[in-house]
Order: sequence, then C-alpha cells, then structure tokens
Amino acid sequence: MPWLVNASSAAATITDKARLAPGERLLVRGATGGVGSVAVQFGDAALDYRTTRPEDLGRFDVVVDVVGTDLGAYRARLDRRGRMVALAFDPDRIVMSMVGTGLRAALRPRRSKLFSNNPSAERMAELTRCVERGDIRPVIHAVLPMDDVAEAHRRLEAGGVRGKYVVDMGRP
Ligand SMILES: NC(=O)c1ccc[n+]([C@@H]2O[C@H](COP(=O)([O-])OP(=O)(O)OC[C@H]3O[C@@H](n4cnc5c(N)ncnc54)[C@H](OP(=O)(O)O)[C@@H]3O)[C@@H](O)[C@H]2O)c1
Repeated sequence: MPWLVNASSAAATITDKARLAPGERLLVRGATGGVGSVAVQFGDAALDYRTTRPEDLGRFDVVVDVVGTDLGAYRARLDRRGRMVALAFDPDRIVMSMVGTGLRAALRPRRSKLFSNNPSAERMAELTRCVERGDIRPVIHAVLPMDDVAEAHRRLEAGGVRGKYVVDMGRP
C-alpha cells in the first residue's frame, strides 16, 4: 500500500498539479525514490545528481521536486511557461523552507505549486490497474523479513536505495 500511495503522489503531481502535456520536458529530482521512481516513468532520460549541476541542465516545462533543497537553482531551469511542483521541504531549514515555498506558491501559483497527497479510491484503483497492465512498474530494491525493518530504515536514511523496500510480514 505505501508504494501505491507514493505512486498516487507521482501521478497526481504530474497530471493534476503540473498538467504535463505531450511533448513537454519533465525533470524529476529524487528519481530513484518511492515517488520519483514512478514520476520518472512519465519521462525517459536519467541523470546522477551527484555529478550533474543544475546549471548544466537544459530547460524544462515541469520540475517535480521531492528533495526540497536548492530549489532556486532548479526553478531557474524552467521555461517561460514552466511550473515547479514541490513535494518536500529542506530538512535542514524546515521552517524557512516551508515559508519560502508556501509564499512562492501563493504569489506565483502558475509557476510554483505545493502538493499534498490525498488520493481518492478511484485513483488508487486506476493505479492498481496500471500496475497490473504493466504500464507502471513498482521499483523494489529488496524484500526483507520483519526482523530487518530497523536496518531498512538505516539504509534508507543513508541514501542510495533504488525504489522501495518491501517488508514481508510473513517472514520473522
Ligand atoms: N507532498 C506530498 O503529498 C508528498 C507525498 C509523498 C512524499 N512526499 C515527500 O517527498 C519526499 C520523498 O519521498 P520518497 O518516498 O520518494 O523518498 P525516498 O524514497 O527516500 O526518495 C528520495 C529520493 O531523493 C534522492 N535525493 C536525495 N538527495 C538528493 C539531492 N540532493 N538531489 C537529488 N536527489 C536527491 C534520493 O536519492 P539517493 O538515495 O541516491 O540519495 C532518492 O532518490 C519526502 O520528503 C516525502 O515526505 C510528499
């Protein structure tokens, strides 16, 4: 279920909030994570954020951000009619980040948008069908037994996990 909720965040961000249209360029920041690994399936190229600076990127119609840091540098990559959708805040300066992102969304609602997920039952059912048809692929890093939950959290915090961990409730 948590993966499906992440998938619904990605789908709602791109379709409802950003209204990505065919032919537009989409940048997803945080593309290997739970939300990003679904969002990026709406696009095609992959870049490593550790070696690619924002100023080396081209222009984008939509930037979906699940990281929360350095938003100005990525906002600067938007085209004239581009829009950025922020799903996360900078964890090191959470209040300033919330205020800044909130203000920008209030002052320039077409260009800067905040997203908070509250998926409908229909959306969850639609996404389930997409997964069953193979239109969207869940990215699963590993399946772990219940006993390894703490270790899974440690690894998630360290970064470098591709997609989601699945916890097998039947395995002690
Ligand atoms: N607003 C909403 O409704 C909503 C909904 C869902 C999630 N969220 C928020 O979105 C955020 C991400 O959620 P998630 O489940 O996708 O988390 P996640 O699975 O931990 O993924 C985080 C992703 O960000 C990448 N990343 C970390 N630092 C980065 C940087 N400086 N530049 C580019 N990428 C970077 C990670 O890559 P590495 O591991 O390789 O570093 C990973 O791909 C969380 O803050 C969550 O609370 C908000």
